[in-house]
Amino acid sequence: MSAPRPAGAGRPPWGSSKVAKPHLLDSDVVLQTHDLVKRFGGIVATDKVSLTIHRGARHALIGPNGAGKTTLINQLTGVMPPSEGRVVLGGRDITALAPHRRVALGLVRTFQINQLFASLTPLQSLALAVAGRQGRAHRWWSPMGRDAQIAAECEQLLAQFRLSDFADRRTAELPYGKRRLLEIALAVAQKPSVLLLDEPAAGVPGAERADILATVAALPDEVAVVLIEHDMDLVFSFARTMTVLVNGSVLTEGTPEQIAADPKVRAVYLGDSMAGMRGGSEDVPSPVARHG
Ligand SMILES: Nc1ncnc2c1ncn2[C@@H]1O[C@H](COP(=O)(O)OP(=O)(O)OP(=O)(O)O)[C@@H](O)[C@H]1O
Ligand SMILES: [Mg+2]
Repeated sequence: MSAPRPAGAGRPPWGSSKVAKPHLLDSDVVLQTHDLVKRFGGIVATDKVSLTIHRGARHALIGPNGAGKTTLINQLTGVMPPSEGRVVLGGRDITALAPHRRVALGLVRTFQINQLFASLTPLQSLALAVAGRQGRAHRWWSPMGRDAQIAAECEQLLAQFRLSDFADRRTAELPYGKRRLLEIALAVAQKPSVLLLDEPAAGVPGAERADILATVAALPDEVAVVLIEHDMDLVFSFARTMTVLVNGSVLTEGTPEQIAADPKVRAVYLGDSMAGMRGGSEDVPSPVARHG
């Protein structure tokens, strides 16, 4: 296979530089898109997006409603085929690969608690996820009781996601924030190299949102995190790299400091509300109105 082309081919994110981050080696790249395009009839929802995600990244995708953030994630996970372009995971072209095959290769997104998981406890759901990853889901119930390794991994995940006190409750009865944490824990149980989070804290009340993001930020360095989030306070405290999407294409990319200082970004976000993000001042409204 030919070597991956550098990110941002048509629109280098770092001025004239051809590499996304000069201090990082190419071997640090875990996921790339190359000139990805997605059209819905006349709408170009993804417009030649070239993105590079590095090992252990804390990479935020931001942009106004309808910018194409979710559409991009859908093409990464494989639920939506791109109209043009390529997706490369760990040097392998996965553009045509089925979603479950991508998960097996380490590209994982959260999925909503379905009816099955809602009827189980967090411990049972995690045991199912861990056993499934090991190809033992067909006999998940018995290994959960007996397999010390699965039990230990579940305990560790429950502690990591602050769910230990809720381990044996019916998931349907958990507080909403705890359900969202369980969704992330279930994704992490797949041992992702890249974890894709599309508004993981949406609908969760105030302080709990920060808890969720802090838990994600504390994931080990083996896990690169790509986060979509509209709450700029959360984004700026989480991200080490940010890509700004507008009308389907990459407006710019950089560190949080570069993004906060970028006049183009400030114009998109109506300036004033962005200014407060840098100083971390309180009561700064989210620059984009959020649907729940
Ligand atoms: N399945 C679809 N069919 C037709 N158009 C779609 C489809 N999915 C998305 N779009 C359009 O593509 C564009 C990008 O939508 P997308 O949901 O990716 O934006 P977003 O950045 O995730 O927005 P938000 O912040 O509101 O979640 C929008 O114009 C949207 O209407
Ligand atoms: Mg979206």
